[in-house]
Amino acid sequence: MSEWGTFYNEDCIKGCRRRVPPNSVDLIITDPPYGIGGDRLHKHYNRREEFVLDGYVEVPSKHYAEFSRRWITEAERILRPGGSLYVVSGYTNLRHILNALAETSLVEVNHLIWRYNFGVYTRAKYISSHYHVLYYVKPGGPVTFNAFCRFGEAERTDGERSLNYQDREDVWIINREYKPGRTKNKNQLPMELLTRIIQYSSNPGDLVADLFLGSFSTAKAAIGLGRRALGFELSKTAFAHHVRQIHHLLPGSMLSGLRTPRGKSVPNRGKAWTERERNRVLRRYRALRGQGKTKKDAIQMLGDEFGRGRFSILNVLERFES
Ligand SMILES: C[S@@+](CC[C@H](N)C(=O)[O-])C[C@H]1O[C@@H](n2cnc3c(N)ncnc32)[C@H](O)[C@@H]1O
Repeated sequence: MSEWGTFYNEDCIKGCRRRVPPNSVDLIITDPPYGIGGDRLHKHYNRREEFVLDGYVEVPSKHYAEFSRRWITEAERILRPGGSLYVVSGYTNLRHILNALAETSLVEVNHLIWRYNFGVYTRAKYISSHYHVLYYVKPGGPVTFNAFCRFGEAERTDGERSLNYQDREDVWIINREYKPGRTKNKNQLPMELLTRIIQYSSNPGDLVADLFLGSFSTAKAAIGLGRRALGFELSKTAFAHHVRQIHHLLPGSMLSGLRTPRGKSVPNRGKAWTERERNRVLRRYRALRGQGKTKKDAIQMLGDEFGRGRFSILNVLERFES
């Protein structure tokens, strides 16, 4: 359709087979129908029905296992070696998705929990307020994981907690987007969630696919972040409504709003320590402490001098400083 986005109003399983070459996609983020009567889901969420788009295509629960197997086989085929797959799922049919993933060559990296507000209210049991986000990679190629794309290694909260560590913990608290009086799809994923995944697991120019576009939220985030987008949506209503909007989106327009990680790069990150280098660190540490530097300042200075992260320096000190 354009150099930034290619979208098809058709079944993703047949569509992938027909149109998407093997090993061609860098990242897939997708949110399949839940198999729980999702075509009536808005009633649970107390939404004003005139603002909820019709045309969500659901999958009967008795077909869910086979359906999951078929689309996940396609996802595996189109991912490039080293490419990443993120699947958003509720708990009801999670087992079918996990079983289908286990039948592929894809390797599990993380099982993230997305905790949201506005859980479905109930008096008779606990209130459900999370989704599962399954992160897998296809083996055989370089994996993109930009660990310091959002927070630098040295950035701290006021309470001295690492912002980078916090951002990469596997429970994400992200609110659903509340859009009173605006037309929406059922189960629209928040931009914040999509931005986070796209930043960590792709680079500008990469191809990001979503097999179940819904409101095209993955595609919007991808194009807004300067990636290319590809996707499928079976519903005619949803497709017609959202494909129009996407053409008004300026590629890369969300990049300038991203937070720039602060702090220096760490050139020797991941390199093995030599004994000589370790001894130099220990000598320098003693000298800095002898000059009256605090432990924290000394570690910071050594990190800069040796091109190493704070934890790496700390590790050497704890293991070798007698
Ligand atoms: C959970 S929603 C996706 C919501 C989307 N992530 C968003 O943020 O708006 C699942 C979507 O998959 C669509 N769908 C169902 N079966 C499909 C199929 N076989 N191929 C493509 N799309 C399908 C549904 O119509 C629905 O819009």
